Amino acid sequence: MHVFVTGGTGTIGTAVVAELIDHGHTVVGLARSERSARALESAGATSIPGDISDLEALRAGASEADGVISLAFGSDYSTADALEASIAQESLAMSTLGAALIDTDKPFVVVSGTPWIPSRPSVESDPLPAEGPAAGRALSVEAALALSSRGVRSSAVRMPRTVHEEGQGGFAGLLTDAARTAGVVGYPGDGTQRWPAVHARDAAALFRLALEKAPGGSSWHAVADEGDAVADIAAVIGRRLGLPVAQVPDDTFGPFGVIFATDQPSSSAHTRAALGWTPQHPSLLADLENLRP
Ligand SMILES: NC(=O)c1ccc[n+]([C@@H]2O[C@H](COP(=O)([O-])OP(=O)(O)OC[C@H]3O[C@@H](n4cnc5c(N)ncnc54)[C@H](OP(=O)(O)O)[C@@H]3O)[C@@H](O)[C@H]2O)c1
Repeated sequence: MHVFVTGGTGTIGTAVVAELIDHGHTVVGLARSERSARALESAGATSIPGDISDLEALRAGASEADGVISLAFGSDYSTADALEASIAQESLAMSTLGAALIDTDKPFVVVSGTPWIPSRPSVESDPLPAEGPAAGRALSVEAALALSSRGVRSSAVRMPRTVHEEGQGGFAGLLTDAARTAGVVGYPGDGTQRWPAVHARDAAALFRLALEKAPGGSSWHAVADEGDAVADIAAVIGRRLGLPVAQVPDDTFGPFGVIFATDQPSSSAHTRAALGWTPQHPSLLADLENLRP
């Protein structure tokens, strides 16, 4: 397939582009800078210049491709306003990409997040959260999945809290980044709350499987580790960076504090059985051993 990818230079997107090319697909990536265009080209892809606010570039990329994977998202999570602006930008981009695919039966794979359900691991049939700082992203995903009734083979690949590569990325990566600045590995909540995780290359394999064979309107869990206690994650980060570990107020992490403090294990049993997905790369706690001071 010839696949249009947004966010193809990020932690997940880099792995997705490599996975697609390794499995015989061709990739064209949206590139908002010369640097990103060069990264895509050195990975064996081609590129279209543009930002995800550039709706003409999105329409052109989607209509010329056999399938689309949407991953781009602004990375400023520091304030509620910044997060809201990124959600609005992503929402418009996703609706533009989806509209370009109506009545084509082409696959449209969007990124989402695993939901959290009190007292049990979440499963693929659970709804996305309707409230909280990222609720707007859930609406965009639901709109994309609803396009399955309009001739789009849309599917959502739900990410756990940490998608990691070489010990970096995701919520664990945010703890690491904050620790480097603060000189202490601060974690919110009481530390017993669990975050699920996946290696970026395992997540990439699931994006490819969804592109190739997920039915329209389906959701999948890219979960390799059902849930690691946050205190255990912080302990490895502290040991690798040579820093002390301490509990901190939830609002240390801005609008994400409340999510950081929530216990949110997640299952991928259905995804593994239905799509034949088998994670093969290191767990989060093992991958964090790659961190350097
Ligand atoms: N990593 C995780 O643990 C995790 C967990 C749950 C969900 N997710 C979601 O998965 C997706 C990918 O995550 P990631 O960790 O790979 O993200 P990332 O490393 O921050 O990369 C973001 C990607 O989006 C691109 N991008 C950002 N703003 C853009 C814009 N305005 N126009 C065009 N491109 C833009 C970036 O391009 P440049 O390279 O040019 O900056 C980059 O390719 C995101 O939607 C993220 O929210 C990630």
